Amino acid sequence: MSQDDDKKIAALAAADEVKAGMLVGMGTGSTAAFLIDELGRRFAQGLRFRAVVTSLASERQAQGLGIPVLPFSDVAHIDLAIDGADEIDPQLRAIKGAGGAMLREKCVAASAARMVVIADGSKTVAMLGAAPVPCETLPFAQSFVEGALTELGARVVLRTKDGAPYRTDQDNLIFDCHFGAIADPGALAASLSSIPGMVGHGLFIDEIDGLYLAKNGSVTLKERPVAS
Ligand code: 5RP
Repeated sequence: MSQDDDKKIAALAAADEVKAGMLVGMGTGSTAAFLIDELGRRFAQGLRFRAVVTSLASERQAQGLGIPVLPFSDVAHIDLAIDGADEIDPQLRAIKGAGGAMLREKCVAASAARMVVIADGSKTVAMLGAAPVPCETLPFAQSFVEGALTELGARVVLRTKDGAPYRTDQDNLIFDCHFGAIADPGALAASLSSIPGMVGHGLFIDEIDGLYLAKNGSVTLKERPVAS
């Protein structure tokens, strides 16, 4: 079984949560692409649902498969969001945004009655932080935000693509912030959220309700532990 096989198995398992009449949030990335493909197949077979998407790439894919896509600007609540992750810990806290879509992904996740992550076994970690935390920044505030992130202890790297600064779907910049092991993800998320000019970051603290994790061809569903 390859990593891609596991991504697909996780996506197919989560697709079973999509029921007729639902409004579904579709994530971004290679695992989410397997999900969108599968939901396109199910739509073609007669399952009727509508979608909102978290990136222009996912919008193109979903529309290409004939899935009705609503503008998220018109939507306050959705039934279910399904998305990938870069790292996820035992408390279902995650780092997202290697694909650059974490701002829209977080808006869609926050609007969802339920949000599940789909992942292969390489994504689970005991402690978040081996992956950088992507921080989406207004170009206007680039230098100020870079300084503030450095003060928080990060090694800050401006994301580039084809030799130029990477631009998000909102035309913003991304700083990939290497913090190392993150002892208190909630506190770090709060600090990041308080930086003016930083419009979003990839730490997901309490948005994720369930994790479909596929390892060596078998998938398990882990639900968020109940807070004590
Ligand atoms: C995009 C994301 C993706 O969900 C995350 O990067 C996982 O991607 P992949 O499924 O390709 O490993 O957060 O912004």
